[in-house]
Amino acid sequence: MISKRSIERVIETAKVEEVISNFVNLKRRGVNLIGLCPFHDEKTPSFTVSPAKNIYKCFGCGKGGNAVNFVMEHEGYSYIEAIKFLAQMYHIELEEIEMTGEQKEAEAKRDSLFIINEWAKKRFSNNLFNTQQGVNIGLAYFKERGFRESIIKKFDLGFASADSKDLFNAAKREGYNIDFLKELGLVSEREMDFFRNRVMFTIHNLTGKAIGFAGRIMGNNPKLPKYINSPESDIYNKRKILYGLYFAKNEIRKQEHCILVEGYTDVLSLVQSGIENVVASSGTSLTTDQIRLIKRYTNTIKILYDGDAAGINAALRGMDMILAENMVVKLVILPEKHDPDSYIKEVGPAEFINYIAENEKDFILFKTNLLLEEASSDPVKKAYILKDIVGTLSKVPDPLIRAMYVKECSNLLDVDEKILNSEINKIIKKEIRERNQRKIRNEKVDSSMEVVDKQDKLIADTQTFLKQSDEYQEKEVIRVLMEKGHAFYDETQGLLIVDFILMEVLDLLDYFDNPIYKKIIKFVKDIRDRGAVPDRNDYFNAEEDIREKYFELIMTPYEYADWQRKGMELQTQKHPDKNQFNEANQAIWRLKYKKLNKLIKYNQENIIKNSDNSEQYNTLIKLHMKLLNERKNLANLLNIVIQ
Ligand code: UTP
Ligand code: MN
Repeated sequence: MISKRSIERVIETAKVEEVISNFVNLKRRGVNLIGLCPFHDEKTPSFTVSPAKNIYKCFGCGKGGNAVNFVMEHEGYSYIEAIKFLAQMYHIELEEIEMTGEQKEAEAKRDSLFIINEWAKKRFSNNLFNTQQGVNIGLAYFKERGFRESIIKKFDLGFASADSKDLFNAAKREGYNIDFLKELGLVSEREMDFFRNRVMFTIHNLTGKAIGFAGRIMGNNPKLPKYINSPESDIYNKRKILYGLYFAKNEIRKQEHCILVEGYTDVLSLVQSGIENVVASSGTSLTTDQIRLIKRYTNTIKILYDGDAAGINAALRGMDMILAENMVVKLVILPEKHDPDSYIKEVGPAEFINYIAENEKDFILFKTNLLLEEASSDPVKKAYILKDIVGTLSKVPDPLIRAMYVKECSNLLDVDEKILNSEINKIIKKEIRERNQRKIRNEKVDSSMEVVDKQDKLIADTQTFLKQSDEYQEKEVIRVLMEKGHAFYDETQGLLIVDFILMEVLDLLDYFDNPIYKKIIKFVKDIRDRGAVPDRNDYFNAEEDIREKYFELIMTPYEYADWQRKGMELQTQKHPDKNQFNEANQAIWRLKYKKLNKLIKYNQENIIKNSDNSEQYNTLIKLHMKLLNERKNLANLLNIVIQ
């Protein structure tokens, strides 16, 4: 394992702007650098790099992180691979150290799983080329289908013996851990081989390692599944893998589009014919994770599906999901009874490419046509289609492209363009309104503060403040928690900010408005419960939503300026780094103040409801007094006027 110390050295040495400059054209703007975001399609730069904080953040798509995260995201590297990449870039020598028992076990297990899969892959391959059964059945099958040796080797194809204990016995003989073979789905609980008498397809991860297999039946027996696949394991997550992506990624970048097909053999045939930017979703319906994998390399997906009803339905599923990722989706429906593999074999690569060019239809127009066919002349259904299409159209981000669609859809649907536009605009306006509201809440306020001290203005502001959601206050608490958690709240007592905040908010957790903040508190509490103090690295390595929130918050601190400007100033304005005690207090007080007001309101409603139950009523009244008192105390601390 690489030592923590040398990982830290890499993280400290890596300058985010230097690393990103290898991939993105950055220009200076103020203290930051900006450029076009490599993770989503944009024409005006919202990808911001802060050399001072050594992090990046895209205000368009939300992606953010440090140099390590960038390399992972951009190159599809694992954490360790990213560290190695950066170490090389900065000529840092990585120090190897011993791991703890537990780490060793987890690492060792993953390593073993990879090693066993690698071994099985080689065995399947050896079966195919060097055993009589493999050559006669498996290799003969592949050859008959027209697959050449070069493609068979490149994609690590193989053959699983018909002998029901072939792999099991070999594993045993060579001393492999049978439990791991079971976990990988290579042998069953009853210690029989899972893949028997099947040609084998290796499934690779983004770095080319074997993480799973698929086996195709020989001959056809309608009672048995045509393909069987490895189960999910510590190293294989179906939803996050696309078959062939490891081999296709560079070509996808070069061709600026990705061809998506359904089957393993479709990938092989196309690659063999020189069309290399192709991946397969392998039987499962496309997931958002898979779309995002493609999006690392291109914004355009061309989906090639079989010309039968199942193929078309598979193509339609999840399409709005792709559009929402801001990607361009083209559909090619192949002639009936063909899949990409059979069709390219019939007509050859040149004609195949030609067919795609002539038949690729934009997804939206395709969908409109299809829905229309289904609805034929039913006016009720037609109204429903209209709504569906308008929803889809509103997802198209580029107004010029959208206008083109509107024109064509208006023809197809026989609906006036104006009507379509006005419906689309309604949706877009609604979205913009919601976005602006979010933006106003997030807006940073410039430092020139005008102090308003008129009492009545203050009261009015206080009321507006109370009406707003508690998003602000929750966010500020989480910001202090994440940014300053490790600092002392009270040094003499040995109390950290993280402890202070957890202590104060755990009771309030049920009243949190925003689930992500709740999630972060639970995340921090888990780490703290284990006796550790959460630090940047915990957030760097956390789940994506937590990590992104972390970078968002440390990029845009001090939103409280807004509240201050309205006359409710921070009591002290020391250097922010020295001010964590006050920051933590202010954040917690404000949050509690807001939540307290909600509780008071809720309690009041309860009092009214319980007015004829005297015992209950008395308890609630007491609680009411207590809450009012607590609010008064907090208001004093915060200098807020309560009427
Ligand atoms: P197809 O039935 O279209 O098979 O399934 P194919 O890819 O054309 O295979 P060949 O050409 O007959 O050999 C498409 C994909 O769906 C998944 C596989 O990923 C397959 O490639 N699938 C299909 C399964 O996982 N299990 C099955 O039983 C069938
Ligand atoms: Mn096929």
